[in-house]
Amino acid sequence: MEKQVKGKTRQETLADLCEEFRANNKIAPESFDLYNVKRGLRNPDGTGVMAGLTLICNVHGYLIDDGERIPDEGRLTYRGIDVCDIVEGCARENRFGFEEVSWLLLFGKQPTREQLERFSAVINSYRELPEYFAEDMIIKAPSRNIMNKLARSVLALYSYDDNPDDISLENNMRQSMQLIARLPTIMTYAYQVKRRHYDKQSMFFHPLNPEHSTAEAILNAIRPDRQFTDEEAKLLDLCMMIHAEHGGGNNSTFTARVLSSTGTDIYSAISAAIGSLKGPRHGGANHRVMMMMGDLMQNVKDWESDAQVKDYLARIVRKEVGDHSGLIYGMGHAVYTISDPRAVILKQKARKIAGERGMLREFDLFERVERLAPEVFAGVKGDSKVISANVDFYSGLVYECLGIPSDLYTPLFAVSRIAGWCAHRIEEIETCGRIMRPAYRSLAQQKTYIPLDERR
Ligand code: COA
Repeated sequence: MEKQVKGKTRQETLADLCEEFRANNKIAPESFDLYNVKRGLRNPDGTGVMAGLTLICNVHGYLIDDGERIPDEGRLTYRGIDVCDIVEGCARENRFGFEEVSWLLLFGKQPTREQLERFSAVINSYRELPEYFAEDMIIKAPSRNIMNKLARSVLALYSYDDNPDDISLENNMRQSMQLIARLPTIMTYAYQVKRRHYDKQSMFFHPLNPEHSTAEAILNAIRPDRQFTDEEAKLLDLCMMIHAEHGGGNNSTFTARVLSSTGTDIYSAISAAIGSLKGPRHGGANHRVMMMMGDLMQNVKDWESDAQVKDYLARIVRKEVGDHSGLIYGMGHAVYTISDPRAVILKQKARKIAGERGMLREFDLFERVERLAPEVFAGVKGDSKVISANVDFYSGLVYECLGIPSDLYTPLFAVSRIAGWCAHRIEEIETCGRIMRPAYRSLAQQKTYIPLDERR
């Protein structure tokens, strides 16, 4: 039995404290409209509050006509170039693209062959972690959650940097290249240690190959036999390209910009961004999609029945099943309406690889959910918002087909998005130069101080 502290168990005290909180902390949902507060930093029409200017990326999901939001096909551009064209260009030239995308995001234009080769070589030269970092920071302190380990490790890198606090362009660029290079190494080491410590499986640390692209380095580190095909590495590389950036307003990038606006060091800003991305409404959704689909596969008898799938989705939205959040993960987006171009690319890839790996039945079920979810959302919530599959809907399926463990789904998002985070941090520091500091309207009533012995 739990021991008592001052006559109550800690559990009972905790229940009392939560009751106290609930009684004293009610804000009526109508108050947000009453005081014209933009809940979630959204305007009444669902568009985001304008918080900054950027040259890095544009996310297009709707048109505004006479003040009305008109749904449109999604379009994503990095430095003005359509991401679909970047992906197709790299495929046509049969080469890896994540390093090139990182260059484009950081520096602002497409690299020449020579610039790209030099940049990739510098990234590879930074891939190894500082001496004893793996032993002291990863092996000795494992975590069940790789995103948690990534955030802690990035924060710890501060102590291994001789010049951590200098926010000059030169120093930020050096630190950014190091982080882009090292995050995949930290991710794969953290995964190995998690396997050994929590899953009671073997852990292996293969030597790094200095010739490997980032995608190849990751597959090299997580496959026991270090074997992978060029096609597999190029598919992972494609996933990394389309996850690398998504404008300044997405929660994790905004987090990185908010912290950077204070003049703090890059390790603080990036570890906070990783914490943000971990959330299930953000990058953590790719893991939740797979859990949701796993539940659906178990509970829906006939995967080919629209009626049965719809019924299960409606139960998700009514919070009766799944994680009880009411969310159909992988669906909906703050900006995209009719389509998310990243989901369109991933769906195509998922269909192909699922066919090759004998997983077409699973793919068909994903496609059925994608088709039926908007209808269920509109029906159950009575919401006219146009929703479609987002980047997280098919990414987990692609990773599963690639034999990548689910522990790494969201971390893979982080090791890709690091490029965008660093570009935005530098842009914030170099072009904005003001601490971000919005306001909160206080609804607290004026009260007088009561001496301790007179309180009831
Ligand atoms: N399933 C069920 N309900 C959803 C939904 C979904 N996929 N997406 C939005 N909604 C609901 C919200 O719960 C909210 O309902 P409420 O008013 O009763 O609280 C309403 O629609 C508006 O949601 P909001 O979060 O303000 O919309 P948004 O467009 O700003 O949200 C997301 C964007 C991505 C956060 C949201 O669509 C979502 O949570 N999707 C599922 C998680 C996900 O896939 N995230 C990855 C994003 S890339």
